[in-house]
Amino acid sequence: MQIIKANLIYTKRFGELTVMDKGYVGIENGAVVFVSDLVPKAYQDVIVTDYGNQLLIPGFCDLHTHAPQFENIGLGMNLKLLPWLEQLTFPTEAKYADSDYAKKMYRQVIRNVLRMGTTRVVFFSTVHTQSAQILIDLMEEVGLCGFVGKVNMDDNCAQSIRENTQVSIDETRTFYEKNKDNIGVKPIITPRFVPSCTRPLLKGLGELVVDYDAPIQSHINENIEEIEWVAQLHPEADSYADVYDRFGLFTNRTLMAHCVHMTPEETQLMAKNGVMAVHCPHSNSNLSSGIMPLKQLINQGVKAGLGTDVSGGNALSIAQTMVLAMQLSRLRYQQNPKEGYLSFEEAFYLATKGGGSFFGKVGSFEPGYMFDALVIDDSNLGVDSAKDSAERLRRFVYAGDDRNIVKRYINGKRIEV
Ligand code: GUN
Ligand code: FE
Repeated sequence: MQIIKANLIYTKRFGELTVMDKGYVGIENGAVVFVSDLVPKAYQDVIVTDYGNQLLIPGFCDLHTHAPQFENIGLGMNLKLLPWLEQLTFPTEAKYADSDYAKKMYRQVIRNVLRMGTTRVVFFSTVHTQSAQILIDLMEEVGLCGFVGKVNMDDNCAQSIRENTQVSIDETRTFYEKNKDNIGVKPIITPRFVPSCTRPLLKGLGELVVDYDAPIQSHINENIEEIEWVAQLHPEADSYADVYDRFGLFTNRTLMAHCVHMTPEETQLMAKNGVMAVHCPHSNSNLSSGIMPLKQLINQGVKAGLGTDVSGGNALSIAQTMVLAMQLSRLRYQQNPKEGYLSFEEAFYLATKGGGSFFGKVGSFEPGYMFDALVIDDSNLGVDSAKDSAERLRRFVYAGDDRNIVKRYINGKRIEV
């Protein structure tokens, strides 16, 4: 048992903050057992770790980012999606055939993800099974939790990263088998997006999903040219979402990045199937993709979370992602007042408990939740002028950075970066 005392802030419900100043969290076997303004009688003898006037919040959840693209941050920002993939992204990912190179680069990505306060992450690696395994092994070594996908691509890309269809399916099965019982970092089925996968590949991946009840991640409705291309490639399908659905890849364990340009039918299908939409506002801005109708999707019952989508996105920070999500939502609100806008409390929910739901009981300090947490020292951010802890949290998210994150916990364990 360990007990931590601090000013606790977390969210139990979309749109609500729970604040407990000088509160105590009790943690056993990595999970929260109590949260209270007093130490319960049974635990009076336990030594308390007291963080004084600092804030304690749940760790951030990044539901979509590309580990091999970290080296491209800030590059190609004059391009839109399809030329950006072709000219910049695919040639970079080809380099990850070299395991030593992958090791060197992935170490840096992991360190930076942790530094920004992300405690759970869902990564794309590359088509190379070895590179995906390296990413898992390095994450496990330092204690970063989440999912890693070996990317599947057997069409519409350079020879150097194009897979043979059957090899792609077989390697994914082997990779999945080898990692499915991992505790910290699990495998996830990762068809890159519809244009880079043939029908037989999508079918094979759908079969893997059934065999293992596996989670899935991909991209959808990011860019107009992409959507037109999918319609040409799949004239038999009703929509982009329908292509995934036909192959059993649109389930309540699926993450779909972007969802910028959705038809009403696609939104309904997402809500009905329980697919989670991952909002990646930096990427959507940089690649000129559009503004995702986040509030509209949420209002219609679609589950949602946040992603950094490096290197379409230029920031690995989920705090910065919250801010841009709120800003873009405010811009949309100006044209669509009925939709409402994303409030701070809502954005904080998406960044913690909402996104965390993909990983199990993650993203809150409610009893039973895994204890992933950040200690925030905001003494350089005008603490004394703040009315309360909730104001301090807002200021940290909008104006602070990784230097304000002074301690990190994952599954109850301190993580050093
Ligand atoms: N669509 C297919 N691949 C990618 C990728 O790597 N990044 C983004 N943003 N969109 C994609
Ligand atoms: Fe992406």
